[in-house]
Parts: sequence; C-alpha cells; structure tokens
Amino acid sequence: MPAEPITLCPLDQCPPGEIHAIDAWIDGEVQSLLIWRDGTTLQAFLNICPHAGRRLDYAPGKFLLQDQRLICAAHGAAFRLSDGSCVSGPCRGQNLQAIAIRLIDGMLCLPCSD
Ligand code: FES
Repeated sequence: MPAEPITLCPLDQCPPGEIHAIDAWIDGEVQSLLIWRDGTTLQAFLNICPHAGRRLDYAPGKFLLQDQRLICAAHGAAFRLSDGSCVSGPCRGQNLQAIAIRLIDGMLCLPCSD
C-alpha cells in the first residue's frame, strides 16, 4: 500500500507575500521549514542558512523580508525567494535547500518518502 503524503498545514495559513514557518518531520528529525507563497508560486526551504548553518529567522517564525528577498538575521545574506538563491552577502551563489511540497485539497503536504 503506498504511503500517504504528510500534511503540513492549510494553504490559507500561508498568506501571499509572507513567510510562514512550520516544523515538519523530515528524514527522522524535526526540521524548521519556511514556506513562501507569491501568486500561484509556492516554495518551501529548510530554515538553515548555507553560510554558517544558522536559522534564518530573528525570532522563531519571524523573518526579515526586503523586495521579495529573505535576509538572514545572522549576517545579512539575501536570498531570492523564487528559487532560494543567495544574491548578496557572505554565501552569494549558494542556495537554500528546497523541500518539495504539494497542494492537495487545499492542504500543503510533503510527498510521501516511500
Ligand atoms: S548564517 Fe546566514 S549570513 Fe551567516
């Protein structure tokens, strides 16, 4: 029997133009995810900066946003939310780790990992 997708939250908990943080069980441990919704685009990334491995938020679930870019609260790296790429700062050229998500009946889900 195929495994079921893992439900994260209802889509309407992710307002367009804001970052929504959520904890999810991934690969055997709880991970902090950030979800970005802009129009029809949905992106999910691990809440880990590639520069020094720190969380990106300045307080749990609170993120610095500037012109649709996420600014790491630790040292100011700027990430383009459409693809997670770092466009300025100490890890320019690196990327946030994207996490695959799906929208199923109005719910954001992680695909099953079989
Ligand atoms: S940990 Fe994010 S810029 Fe240094």
